[in-house]
Formats: sequence, C-alpha cells, structure tokens
Amino acid sequence: PHIVIVLGTRPEIIKLAPVIRACEHQKLSYSVIHTGQHYSDSLDTVFFDQLELPAPDYQLGVGSNTHGQQTAEMLAGLEEILLEETPEVVLVQGDTNSVLAGAMAASKLEMQLGHVEAGLRSFDREMPEETNRVLADHAADYLFAPTETSRDHLREEGIADDRIHVTGNTVVDAVQQNQELAATKSTILEELDIAEKNFGLVTAHRAENVDERDRFAGLLEGVQRVGEVFDLEMIYPIHPRAKERLDVFDFETPSAVRLVEPQDYLDFIRLQKSAKIVLTDSGGVQEETCILGVPCVTLRENTERPETVEFGANQLAGVDPQRILTSTREMLEKESTWDNPFGDGQAADHILEILSPVGRGIQS
Ligand code: UD1
Ligand code: UDP
Repeated sequence: PHIVIVLGTRPEIIKLAPVIRACEHQKLSYSVIHTGQHYSDSLDTVFFDQLELPAPDYQLGVGSNTHGQQTAEMLAGLEEILLEETPEVVLVQGDTNSVLAGAMAASKLEMQLGHVEAGLRSFDREMPEETNRVLADHAADYLFAPTETSRDHLREEGIADDRIHVTGNTVVDAVQQNQELAATKSTILEELDIAEKNFGLVTAHRAENVDERDRFAGLLEGVQRVGEVFDLEMIYPIHPRAKERLDVFDFETPSAVRLVEPQDYLDFIRLQKSAKIVLTDSGGVQEETCILGVPCVTLRENTERPETVEFGANQLAGVDPQRILTSTREMLEKESTWDNPFGDGQAADHILEILSPVGRGIQS
C-alpha cells in the first residue's frame, strides 16, 4: 500500500520514527507530510537528524497560530497533497492539532485513516488534546490502541471491534531503539556537570499549566520544594511555550531550578534514565519514565496514561506544592520494579502488518 504519514510536533516525530524506519526497512511505498506545527530546530529538525529520518516529502510550514487558523491551514494544505498522493491509508499519531487536521483531511476525501495511539482518554474535555483524540478516533478506520485499557475506552464509545487493534505503543520501540545509543553516545551529564541520581528532571509545557499564572506559579514552587527538601538540582529543559510564559509573567527562576534548552532525544533519554525523580506534565515523558524504570510525578489532575499509575511508576500531584512534595516522597520511598504496560517494542511492525492486507485488497 502507499502510506502517507502526517506529523507536525516533537512527540509525533519521535513516536512515528519507528514506523518510518519500519517502512524503510520493508521497502514500503510511503510519504511524509510535515505540517510545520513545530518548526524550532530544537523541537523539529534535531530529531530528524539524530533519528536518521529522511527529510519530509512535504512541508506545509503552518507555524504557530490560533487553533482554528492553524488547523484550517493544515487541512487545506493536506487536502491538496493527499489528492495528488492518493494513498491507501493516511497515518496520524497522538492528539495534536496536526492529528486533527490529518484526520479531517483523510475523512473528507474518504481515504482510509489509521490512528496510532488510539483510545487514550483523560476524560477532561477542557484539554484541546482530548477533543483532538476523540475526533480522530471516531474518524479512523484503523485504531491502533496501545493497551487493553485504551481498547476498552473505544469499545465504550461504540467503535466497532474490528476497527480496533491492540499493538502496544511505538514509544517502546523508540526507547528500545535509542536507549543503548543514549547510554554510550550522550555526554549531557558531563556537559551539564551533574551526576547520576543526583538531580531531578522537570518538563512542563501544557497550556492548562503554563498559560495560567497561578497554576504555573504553584508548579514552580512545588519543583523548588522538591529540590530543597531532597537536595537535588532540578534540571528543566524548557519548551518555548513555557519559556514565553515565564517571561510574560515575569517569574524569577527558583533557586533550585536550572533552565536548559530543549534536549535532543539521546540526551533526554540519558537525562530521564539518570534522574532521581522526574516531574512532568508531558504524556510521552510519563510513558518513557515508566519504561525506563524511573519514578515520575505528574503535574496534572488527570492522565490519559493511567497504566503508569496502576503499575506504580507514576503519581498524579496536580500543581499544589505540598502535594508535589508528598508525591515525590512517596515515589522515592518505593522500589522502581514495575513492568512496562506499553507493549513489546514491535508496535511499528504490528501496525504495518495490520495494514498490509489493505494494499493487497486494493491491488488485486
Ligand atoms: C503542542 C500540542 C501538545 C503537545 C505539544 C508537544 C496541540 C493543541 N498541542 O503544544 O498537545 O503536547 O505540542 O510539544 O496541538 N513554539 C515555538 N517553536 C515551535 C513551536 C511552538 O517557539 O517550534 C511556541 C510558539 O510561541 C507557540 C507556542 O510555542 O505559540 C505553542 O505552540 P503550539 O504548537 O500551538 O502548541 P504546543 O504548546 O507546542
Ligand atoms: N523530549 C525530548 N527533549 C526534551 C523534552 C522531551 O526529546 O527536552 C521528548 C521526550 O523524550 C518524549 C517527547 O519529547 O519522547 C515528549 O514530547 P512533549 O512533552 O513535547 O509532548 P507530549 O508527549 O506531552 O505530547
């Protein structure tokens, strides 16, 4: 089959890299369309270079804008290209505006849509990501659910069983393909002059946290207290959205926190693996810490990755400083011996295997 892969942001590049590699390996016919939702080098090209991905075949270059403008521009651009490419299937991954646009474009052209990482639910309809993932799931013909929990969510919403396939999450493929390289090649600990298990790692970029002055202040205060109480330097590779809000709110960087640039993938895996504790509001980071056996505290009230909490790798703490401290203490007191709920690291192959009859059906 001819596959068109639509991507646009850092997590999509990382989690679709194993699918792109598998397409290369199996010599499948495929094209990649980059929406340009992320465009800063540190959120975009650095991953194509490091993960040795071919440059995208198309670049829509939409950049940042209001959700409506951004999504509309992507939709128009995607439609034009899809009409030329006439793929058997369009693949999107995750829950960003690029995913919503890809799903709508495929659906309007009556093309088959595959949604990688289907069935995640935070049940928080105020998050733009929740709306995006629900809409993409209901438009999709192939729903690649990472776990049985995500399959159950889809069933409960009335999605037909034969459209749902539990494949594991491609994030496991990504971690497995890069963990050893990170251990041998990354020199980030030396560059930052920090020692194994002697620092905390922080990421926070979600709109509902960093765009709200009070929530962002509480989050930073919680991170500061963890740093003080456990005597850890808190390394925070800061997403441009959060950086901009720090400046607008005129916040001082707390004394235990060190802001650094967003990291490339090998350096960030090494940082996660070496951290004593990870505090985050990122979806991918909740999964990766769970896979790497590093304790995580999530700076949100809910999670669409409940498996990480059930398996004991993660606790929800919101942005209340005291709760962040208590959760950190609890996570540090227990052993990091949980299992990985997200699959066998072959999710990309499972996905392509499920899609292979699509091409045969059409060709015959
Ligand atoms: C987007 C996704 C979010 C995902 C995150 C991954 C949506 C609704 N949100 O959030 O789900 O977790 O990506 O990182 O799709 N900016 C830059 N350089 C860039 C991109 C953005 O400086 O390359 C800055 C701009 O000021 C921009 C802001 O970040 O206004 C927000 O970018 P946007 O793409 O709208 O959302 P993210 O916060 O990145
Ligand atoms: N990541 C990275 N460098 C960083 C921070 C994160 O490579 O400085 C990776 C991380 O390993 C994970 C992904 O980016 O694979 C998560 O992306 P992000 O937090 O932006 O989005 P989310 O997962 O919340 O949608």
